[in-house]
Amino acid sequence: MKRTLTVIGIGTGNPEYVTVQAVKALNRVSVFFIPNKGDDKADLHHLRREICDRYIEGDNYRLVDFDIPERSKAGKYTSDVSAWRAEVRAIYERLLAEEIGEDEVGGFLVWGDPSLYDGTMGILDSINATGRFDLDYDVIPGISSVSALAARHKVALNRIGQPLTITTGRLVSQGLPPDAGNVVVMLDSRDAFRNVDDDLGIHWGAYIGTEDEILVAGKLGDVREEIERVRSAARKEKGWVMDTYLLSPGADEDAS
Ligand SMILES: C[S@@+](CC[C@H](N)C(=O)[O-])C[C@H]1O[C@@H](n2cnc3c(N)ncnc32)[C@H](O)[C@@H]1O
Repeated sequence: MKRTLTVIGIGTGNPEYVTVQAVKALNRVSVFFIPNKGDDKADLHHLRREICDRYIEGDNYRLVDFDIPERSKAGKYTSDVSAWRAEVRAIYERLLAEEIGEDEVGGFLVWGDPSLYDGTMGILDSINATGRFDLDYDVIPGISSVSALAARHKVALNRIGQPLTITTGRLVSQGLPPDAGNVVVMLDSRDAFRNVDDDLGIHWGAYIGTEDEILVAGKLGDVREEIERVRSAARKEKGWVMDTYLLSPGADEDAS
């Protein structure tokens, strides 16, 4: 089955993060596949719909909602992730078989940028590999939470000539990697910044780009408790939190 698709990065929260290229791509799509990740993420679901309403001329398109299953956390991380991806792949296969025709264009609206901690391209590639579908897709880059964090704090991500590491809270909770340079931490459900050195600088942001955005910056030893407090209050109030932060060793310097 031949299918034409576009994977569109929509930025992380502010509808104005949607690029001109993304707007053009939105206007080529006939069917949008909109993931539902449970009640607590309803805000993100609404934002995807708002982007369609705001940027698409006319109403010659349809939205197909689908539920994303919860990932099991019972087994080993890598096997839980691959089992979850297989489930999501089966859902995509059904959508591609039943909800879109050969002469239409399907669209996936990806939070932030599709290249960063997002499985959409990997799932489409694995569907292509089955041979059951002949998928032709393009990818429109989006403003990632990492770019948005740096812009909102007005800070460069790397030190002069130094590396930048982007990693997860799960890995940071096992210790910072050696020679990592500055470190951006994402997907941190366990407050990994609790166990890193007090002398590191931190630029922290939650719900970046949205009306609920919270930013805190300083020496970790000075602001750790504040971040813990605002993070847990925000999670209690909204039911979910998405945060990203930059950890930097040493004093501030220009970066390039
Ligand atoms: C599954 S990853 C998706 C990343 C996304 N593709 C990107 O380009 O930013 C989800 C993680 O992105 C980060 N994130 C996404 N949106 C965010 C936002 N508005 N504010 C802060 N962090 C965000 C958080 O670290 C969250 O745990």
